[in-house]
Amino acid sequence: MSLLRTVAVFTFIVGVSSSESSNCSYLALWNHLRLTTSNDFLATVRPVKNWTKPTEVWIDLMLYGILDVDEKTQTIVGNIWTKVIWNNEFLTWNPMLFCEIDLITVPRSLLWIPDLVIQEDASDTGSLQMSPFVSLVPAGLLYTTFRQRLTFTCQLNLSLFPFDSQTCNITFSSMVHSARSMILKALKNDTQLNNFTDRVMKTRGEWELKSIKTWHYYSAEKKWPESNVLFLVKIVRRPMLYLINFIIPLLYFIILDLASFFIDEAGGEKLSFKVTVLLSISVLLLILKDMLPSTEDNLPLIASYCVGIFAMVGISVLETMLVSFLISLDNEQDKDANSSGDAGVDIQLEVKHDEVTDDVNSENCSPPLNRHGDRTLLRRIQEELKALRRETRARGEGRRKPGCFRRIAHVIDCLFFILYFLAVVIFLLFMYVKWIEAYIQNEKDER
Ligand SMILES: *[C@@H]1O[C@H](CO)[C@@H](O)[C@H](O)[C@H]1NC(C)=O
Ligand SMILES: *[C@@H]1O[C@H](CO)[C@@H](O)[C@H](O)[C@H]1NC(C)=O
Ligand SMILES: *[C@@H]1O[C@H](CO)[C@@H](O)[C@H](O)[C@H]1NC(C)=O
Ligand SMILES: *[C@@H]1O[C@H](CO)[C@@H](O)[C@H](O)[C@H]1NC(C)=O
Ligand SMILES: *[C@@H]1O[C@H](CO)[C@@H](O)[C@H](O)[C@H]1NC(C)=O
Ligand SMILES: *[C@@H]1O[C@H](CO)[C@@H](O)[C@H](O)[C@H]1NC(C)=O
Repeated sequence: MSLLRTVAVFTFIVGVSSSESSNCSYLALWNHLRLTTSNDFLATVRPVKNWTKPTEVWIDLMLYGILDVDEKTQTIVGNIWTKVIWNNEFLTWNPMLFCEIDLITVPRSLLWIPDLVIQEDASDTGSLQMSPFVSLVPAGLLYTTFRQRLTFTCQLNLSLFPFDSQTCNITFSSMVHSARSMILKALKNDTQLNNFTDRVMKTRGEWELKSIKTWHYYSAEKKWPESNVLFLVKIVRRPMLYLINFIIPLLYFIILDLASFFIDEAGGEKLSFKVTVLLSISVLLLILKDMLPSTEDNLPLIASYCVGIFAMVGISVLETMLVSFLISLDNEQDKDANSSGDAGVDIQLEVKHDEVTDDVNSENCSPPLNRHGDRTLLRRIQEELKALRRETRARGEGRRKPGCFRRIAHVIDCLFFILYFLAVVIFLLFMYVKWIEAYIQNEKDER
């Protein structure tokens, strides 16, 4: 059985070889183009007949998604497909003679391939996926596509975070060829590129693609100028998440802090409330630290916003401490005075009580009071009243001094509140104007 099959396969192969002359098989074309592994020439030499003619390489970048933007490492991850087209002067045929074959695919290993590299690429090679084949059309044009999870570096300017937009470069160049032997160009013009990207862009997360521009230029850093193709990708952040997650809570915290001035001083609730607010802000600061890189020379506005609010709440906590200290000083003296005064009154009352009971007793036991007894009683009452008045005066004097502290505390509190309120309003206005200014500038740049 298996023998029979082998024979059948063998006769089939012989049939194919014999029908070579029919021109409709790929084999005829391959023989015509001399595409065989023994023909090293095609794989090693730049495919031009006159060496002075540079090979033109057309590049098309298809951006299918922006997956991630890492502010810390200043990198962007994109899902891109790159289409590369170039010309091979040795691989042409007339489709009329070959049964109208107008496209063949050739293994990469057989051909010379442009050695393109993306200058900003920071990804590992594992993320690159190449087709093992290259397509070839009769005019000698070859094209190949590779897809890549491209991690590319981009100098992010976060000074307007989270209302920022970033412009990033994706620069294609050759690893070894200078502009004398290889010239890179963009396949699509800007209009086509934007139209295409708009249609194919799959993931639209935190970032929105604003535009892609492209041009080619020569860089003359080396001995021979090098040809480059630059894709300028402009992306804009959607700020809503940061607005509701970060900026508005901070705003509420500072409003809460302002409102806390109306809490009663007594009981120390005000202080603990303010410290709670301060702690909440510091939690937000921690989150911010995770989001932003530590670039000293270009402090983002949001960092100034956070630090400003933190500092203001911190100062208001200190002020509350001062005020409560002053009031506690006051209370202490008050208490001292109170305790002594109370003792005096108690004694007085006791004395008085004794007197009254005495009187009652005497009234019960003896006949109605005579005038002498009345007078002594009145005098005693008078003396007691005097003593009482002295006592109260002394207490009043004792109280005046701590009352002074309380008043100072009150004045400080009022003054501070006014200043603090003004400072908060001016600060918020300043931040608002800065952000709006930047935002308008951004919009203007786009046009
Ligand atoms: C090669 O090209 C150069 C300029 O492009 C031309 O001057 C020269 O004649 C060409 N040589 C041949 C053999 O065609
Ligand atoms: C096959 O190719 C030969 C030349 O290689 C040509 O003369 C002949 O017309 C071709 N036949 C067909 C059917 O295209
Ligand atoms: C970042 O952007 C801000 C506002 O647009 C600008 O003032 C600043 O110069 C930029 N910084 C850098 C390093 O480009
Ligand atoms: C992008 O390339 C242009 C032209 O070379 C350059 O001026 C610009 O600074 C580059 N931008 C970034 C973010 O590297
Ligand atoms: C881009 O190419 C299209 C089609 O080739 C053309 O209609 C359009 O005018 C071009 N746009 C620019 C800006 O060159
Ligand atoms: C984008 O391209 C498609 C087809 O290629 C076309 O139908 C559409 O009108 C274009 N849109 C714009 C805005 O140019």
